[in-house]
Amino acid sequence: MSVLITGGAGFIGSHTAVEFLNAGYDIVIVDNFCNSKPVVLDRIKAITGKNFKFYQLDLLDARALENVFEENKDIDSCIHFAGLKAVGESVFKPIEYYHNNLTGTLTLCQTMKKYGVKTMVFSSSATVYGVPESVPIKEDAKIGEATNPYGETKVMIERILRDIYKSDNEWNISVLRYFNPIGAHKSGLIGEDPKGIPNNLLPYVTQVASGKLPYLHVYGDDYDTHDGTGVRDYIHVVDLAQAHLKALESIKQRGGIDVFNIGTGTGYSVLDIVKAYEKATGKKINYKIEGRRPGDIGACFADPSKAAEILGWSAKYGILEMCRDADNWQKKNPDGYGE
Ligand code: NAD
Ligand code: WQD
Repeated sequence: MSVLITGGAGFIGSHTAVEFLNAGYDIVIVDNFCNSKPVVLDRIKAITGKNFKFYQLDLLDARALENVFEENKDIDSCIHFAGLKAVGESVFKPIEYYHNNLTGTLTLCQTMKKYGVKTMVFSSSATVYGVPESVPIKEDAKIGEATNPYGETKVMIERILRDIYKSDNEWNISVLRYFNPIGAHKSGLIGEDPKGIPNNLLPYVTQVASGKLPYLHVYGDDYDTHDGTGVRDYIHVVDLAQAHLKALESIKQRGGIDVFNIGTGTGYSVLDIVKAYEKATGKKINYKIEGRRPGDIGACFADPSKAAEILGWSAKYGILEMCRDADNWQKKNPDGYGE
């Protein structure tokens, strides 16, 4: 049996592909490289010493997707990462975001149904909680007030998946709400490769550490947090990848539809991250305190106890390992995957 991985050339998908190959699974990756590079596939092979099938296709192309299922009749489940994910860009390009993320998911579900494949793990996000009423956040907290089109696509896809399950209880669906994935594979062969100047904190910090950027802009020190800077639940991407293994194994056994927070349960502020990065790497991170970034919230961190109880998963890596592995990736790949 094999697992279809959509968006498997991306940041989280590539790390998940490695974990599945190492666990002995056969995988088939599909990706259109709209936010990734073909060289990632070679790196996955180099890390695992294993081969897998790959199709360059757009999820919106139903025919091409059907061909994948036709040629791989042993696909029995799907891990669905493919989607556009830049929050700021989604505000300016809502049509592209809704079309790619929603239509892509609908096309995938339609094709899966046609081929009798009804087991899926879906990449959702803590962004579905919008401005949380309290922290740590549990899965039953209110959702549906995401602050941007990207987040809305996650809220909508979660609803679509629930309706699909209601219409046909043979579906097995695990929705994983990731908190803030960072870090990289220990080999330094795969990692996060943002386009242009990074929007997210860790890729920005790694580029300050390497001298590519002069200093970190700290967006606000007047939040209601221990030092006034924004607090998040950073999770090592390898821990996150392993959560997909556990989620797939569990949903196959238990059936139904379920949702899990995937975080460590510990919140770190921006200044905590600066200190942790300096401690982990011995490099100085220069920063300047600036005004708040529009749309940001003060504190967001998970109660991950449901994933521990039901999936038997919890994060193994701490913040120092996350920073060290991110730094190692940046050091070995100063220009990411290059052109
Ligand atoms: P990524 O951009 O690195 O990976 C997504 C991959 O999907 C890319 O390789 C891209 O080329 C591919 N893709 C996008 N649209 C496609 C389409 N229509 N057809 C085929 N391939 C397509 O992003 P990531 O950080 O690895 O995120 C993976 C998933 O996790 C996304 O759904 C994202 O929304 C979600 N997520 C990410 C984060 C985060 O901070 N990275 C947090 C929460 C949730
Ligand atoms: C973290 C903290 C910033 C950059 C985003 C998406 C979310 C999810 C993960 C997909 C905040 C501060 C940041 C910088 C800073 N993605 N910061 N200077 O905003 O929690 O989440 O990525 O689902 O949907 O919104 O992550 O890394 O951008 O910010 O001070 O240059 O770092 O204000 O407090 P965020 P982030």
